[in-house]
Amino acid sequence: MFDIPSIDQAHRDESNSGSSLEMAIPSVTRAPDVVVPIRSLGENHRDRIAVHLKVLDAHDRYYRFGFAANDAQIDRYVAGLNFERDEIFGIYNRHLKLIAMAHLAYSDDEQLNACAEFGVSVLAHTRGRGFGQRLFDRAMMHARNQGVHLMFLHVLSENKVMLAIARKAGATVERDGFESEAHLVLPAATLNTQVTEMVEEQMAQANYRIKVQAKLFHDLLKRMRMSWHAVVPHDPTP
Ligand SMILES: CC(C)(COP(=O)(O)OP(=O)(O)OC[C@H]1O[C@@H](n2cnc3c(N)ncnc32)[C@H](O)[C@@H]1OP(=O)(O)O)[C@@H](O)C(=O)NCCC(=O)NCCS
Repeated sequence: MFDIPSIDQAHRDESNSGSSLEMAIPSVTRAPDVVVPIRSLGENHRDRIAVHLKVLDAHDRYYRFGFAANDAQIDRYVAGLNFERDEIFGIYNRHLKLIAMAHLAYSDDEQLNACAEFGVSVLAHTRGRGFGQRLFDRAMMHARNQGVHLMFLHVLSENKVMLAIARKAGATVERDGFESEAHLVLPAATLNTQVTEMVEEQMAQANYRIKVQAKLFHDLLKRMRMSWHAVVPHDPTP
């Protein structure tokens, strides 16, 4: 149903990391038209969000949060996520591992409800495949559809990749020493942005359901094989 080679590639990289097989896998050249199922995450994804963020090393956590958040601080951040007010997007691989996520946070202040802040993280072994860029694009589209006019990003000045993503979208970047503030003026929503987001979300939800079914089936087969091995008597003949 979906052509998502980059995600499966990501899984292969993960499974084979450090083995000689890794050498045999050709580097991925990203096709711009590949559909990446980005879905909106709800309350029931909280635990997986925590797992995703805790996989990030200290350097990535520093880039993501502006400080090297420890596990307890990540737990507090995740516990405080407001799925009603904010939008959290995610990309799952076929093993239902959250490999990339973005948080579009709205202000509690009604006077500032036309502003949102964007934060993103992609697991290290799946970087360079366009997931960060696509999450940014999706968040931009969602923000426009919600009537947001200004999207902010708090980025460390040395974070070249994130700054490249923001600049490519037309963001104005103001550097203040180690830190940079990027803001993007968003055009108003159109029928096209609204329909596109709706279709993309439905495709991503369907894709996720298929992955859930496939994983359940795969786990069942694994259990069956294991119980079969347990009952087959060992043949001692050489
Ligand atoms: C920043 C981050 C989300 C990027 O994710 P990603 O999936 O690797 O990014 P993409 O593959 O979409 O690459 C985005 C762009 O950056 C470019 N890029 C990659 N490395 C670069 C570098 N060293 N300098 C400049 N640009 C670079 C890519 O070429 C790509 O541009 P292109 O589409 O024109 O080719 C990821 O590195 C990450 O999770 N970092 C840790 C957390 C973090 O920094 N979060 C941001 C704080 S809000």
